[in-house]
Amino acid sequence: MKILAIETSCDETAVSVLESKNDLPYPEFKVLGNTLLSQIETHRPYGGVFPALAKREHIKNIIPILASTLKQCEAGKIQTHKLSTEQKNIIEEILLREPDLFQNFVKFIESTPKPDIDHLSVTNGPGLEPALWVGINVAKALSVAWNLPLTPVNHLEGHIASVLLSKRPCRPIFPAIALLISGGHTELILVENWGKYKKIGATKDDAVGEAFDKVARMLELPYPGGPEISKLAKNARETGQESSFSFPRPMMHTPDLNFSFSGLKTAVMYEIKKIPVLTDKIKNEIALEFEDAVCEVLLHKTKKALEEFGAQSFISAGGVTANTHLREKLLSIDSEAVCIPETELSTDNAQMIAVAGAISILQNRNIPNIKDIVAQGVMPLDTSKV
Ligand code: KG4
Ligand code: ZN
Repeated sequence: MKILAIETSCDETAVSVLESKNDLPYPEFKVLGNTLLSQIETHRPYGGVFPALAKREHIKNIIPILASTLKQCEAGKIQTHKLSTEQKNIIEEILLREPDLFQNFVKFIESTPKPDIDHLSVTNGPGLEPALWVGINVAKALSVAWNLPLTPVNHLEGHIASVLLSKRPCRPIFPAIALLISGGHTELILVENWGKYKKIGATKDDAVGEAFDKVARMLELPYPGGPEISKLAKNARETGQESSFSFPRPMMHTPDLNFSFSGLKTAVMYEIKKIPVLTDKIKNEIALEFEDAVCEVLLHKTKKALEEFGAQSFISAGGVTANTHLREKLLSIDSEAVCIPETELSTDNAQMIAVAGAISILQNRNIPNIKDIVAQGVMPLDTSKV
C-alpha cells in the first residue's frame, strides 16, 4: 500500500509518500518521497508561532512541496489528468476561501501524472486550526481529483507511530508507555495497542517545550528555545561548569503522573530578575540547571508510569525528544524495548502521519466522508472514553 500524507498542524509544511509492507502490529515502511519546509525563520521575529502567518505560509508552499515530493516518487501511469467539470466544481467549493490556491491546485493536477498511490492521510488535529485547514482542504481536493480515500490522523498518534520509522529497529511491545513531549503537549499515554490509548498523566499548565521556549526568551535566546537552551547546557557540561542555581523539580514526588512546568519557569524568572548582567557563563548555568530539572522530572514520572502499568516498552515522541541530554537519560530506561525515533522524526513531519494513516487503514477504522473531516484545535488522544 502506498500512502501520501500531509502535515500542516503548526509551523511545518510537509508531504510524504510511504509504502507499507507487512501487517500489524509491526508494518514496515519505505519512504518514497519526503519534503518538509520549516517556517521557523518567518516566526522567529515574533518569538513564537503566529497562526495567521502559519496559514499564509502553508498556502504559499503546499503545492510546490506536493510537487517536489511526487517528483521523488516513481511517476504514475496516467500521463495527463484533466479534471472533469464536476470534480472542478467540488474542488472549487473545498478551496472556496483560497481562490489562488484553487488555481494553483488545478494547474498542478492537470500537469502532473496521477501518482501510483492508494490512500491519502492528513493531520486534522490537534494544532492551530487555520494551519490545519490548509492541509485538510488540499487533502480533500486531492481525494476528489485522484478519487482516493482520505484518512484523518491525530497528530499525537502520528508522533507515537513515528517509532516504526526509526533506523534503530524498534518494535514496541504492548502495553507500552508513551511520553509525548512537544511545544503544545506533555502527556504520558498508556498504549494498549495501536489505536488504543489512555491518557494517564499530563501537564497541569505549560507544556515542556513551551517552558523551554519561554525560559529561552528570558535568556534573550532566539525562538525556538529548546535547541538553544540545550546548546548552552551542553557548553556547561562539556567545560565541567557547575550551576550555582537551584531550581525546583515541580510535582516530582506527587502520587499521580502529572507534571507542572509553570512554577519552574517562574523560579527561573525570579532568579534572572536578581542578576544585573546576564553573562554567557550565567546563561550556561541557568540553562544547565533548568534542563536538569526538566529531565529529572520527566524521567522520574516516566519510570513511575512504566512500573505502575507493568509496561513492557517505552516510546518517547514529540519535538522535545530531540533534546540530546534527555535522550541519553531516556535511553537508559530499563525496559524490553525503548523506542526513541531519530531527531528528524521527533519533530513534526509528514512521514509519521503516513504511518499513523497506514495503521488506521490496516485496522479497518472507519474512513469518514470528506465532508465530515474538520480541523480540531483540541483533539485528545484518549480512546478509553469512546
Ligand atoms: O513536536 P514539535 O516539533 O511541535 C509541536 O507539535 O509542538 O515540538 C516543538 C517543541 C518546541 O517547543 C521546541 O523548543 C522543542 O520542541 N524542542 C526542543 C529541542 N528541539 C525542539 N526542546 C528541548 N531541546 C531540544 N533540543
Ligand atoms: Zn508535534
